[in-house]
Amino acid sequence: MTQALNIVGEETDVPSGVRNQDALAEAISGVLADTYRLTFKTHAYHWNVEGPLFYSVHNLTEGQYENLFGAADELAERIRALGKMAPTQMSAIMDGSVVQDRDGALSAGEMCEDLAGDHARIAHRLHALIKIAGDNNDPVTEDLATERSAFHEKAAWMLRALTKA
Ligand SMILES: [Fe+2]
Repeated sequence: MTQALNIVGEETDVPSGVRNQDALAEAISGVLADTYRLTFKTHAYHWNVEGPLFYSVHNLTEGQYENLFGAADELAERIRALGKMAPTQMSAIMDGSVVQDRDGALSAGEMCEDLAGDHARIAHRLHALIKIAGDNNDPVTEDLATERSAFHEKAAWMLRALTKA
């Protein structure tokens, strides 16, 4: 007869076994800031894109900002589940993000290239979050960050593919 596995987590200070919840919440907050800021930038490009690629970029960005908006909610709720406060000020979103504003009117191709760069940078940040989460016994955040990095890497590919010469 097979012996049943004894499913008991290792002894830790917190019942869930997730260590360094402050650091994890802070790391998730950075990605949340990126996600929120890129939601707005994606939406702004959706409104302002012009030229022969209008319809393609307008439609692609619509799916992307909808995904980003939903993800911001998931990330904020993960912070709350870790017992920490989600951001309450737009200044924290602005300061905590690697996404930057661009000046001037951009062509459709420049918009796609700019967004693709942001998606790639956010994916890179998420890879770091995956590592921090794994190191601190937090498979739920690891899973969420893995799912999010897959979205961003795919978004970067699609935006670049759209404007390839
Ligand atoms: Fe729209």
